[in-house]
Amino acid sequence: MNARPVIGVFDSGVGGLSVYRSLLHELPRESFIYLADNRFAPYGLKSRQVILERSRSISEFLIQQGAALIVVACNTATGAAISRLRRENSIPFVGVEPAVKPAALKSKTGHIGVLATEQTFKGEHFRKTYQLYSRSVSVHFRAGNGLVELVENGQAESQEARALLEQYLMPMVQSGIDQLVLGCTHFPFLIPLIREIVPPEVAVIDPAPAVARQTRKVMEDHGFLLNSTETGSYQFYSTGDTGPLTRMLHTLRLNYSVLSLTSV
Ligand code: DGL
Repeated sequence: MNARPVIGVFDSGVGGLSVYRSLLHELPRESFIYLADNRFAPYGLKSRQVILERSRSISEFLIQQGAALIVVACNTATGAAISRLRRENSIPFVGVEPAVKPAALKSKTGHIGVLATEQTFKGEHFRKTYQLYSRSVSVHFRAGNGLVELVENGQAESQEARALLEQYLMPMVQSGIDQLVLGCTHFPFLIPLIREIVPPEVAVIDPAPAVARQTRKVMEDHGFLLNSTETGSYQFYSTGDTGPLTRMLHTLRLNYSVLSLTSV
């Protein structure tokens, strides 16, 4: 086993940082490599095959860099690729998927909203979840087209983002949702605007803390937690322009430099 197990994390861009910040909170002493595949973003409008191929190449790179576990910090890639990644590699993978189950269990109005990418809704996993839970609650789902690009461009609090969010969320609010599931890891960065649009009684669900707890559990189960007193190392890669990841890290007060990686 690696002396210091590294956790690999990837997403199409900066969205996975919403998961990464929870991982840091849950596992403050571990080492991480984060990869933003922004040369291919947004994933949400790509075919399943393209997302699968990207997820394979990225996983191969992360494993070469010493990753002992990979967090697929992207709902779209989890839906399109995680079962294949698990079959094809011997290391554990943790994914992110729209938190429909907890939302359905908590809902009192019997209406829940899900905002995710087009590709996530097309995936078999979402279809099965939908079939299962739409027996007990009405699931109002909507593809958040255009939002990922705005978050990537540092426009998460712009008028344009507000207009799109109003367009996507108001019909859900009018249908009486009391739970809003954020089914794309870019969307937690839109929470300040979302909170201004949806009434206070609507709970907004970001799955990141649950994903971080699950990652800790998998680390424990595999004997990867060293309980070291030293802090870990952190590396950040971007397959396209390094600007968006650098900017979002800065916004989160994580002042690390981003390496350009065009060979993956
Ligand atoms: N952040 C990703 C997700 O959770 C992908 C967004 C995209 O690239 O479309 O789905």
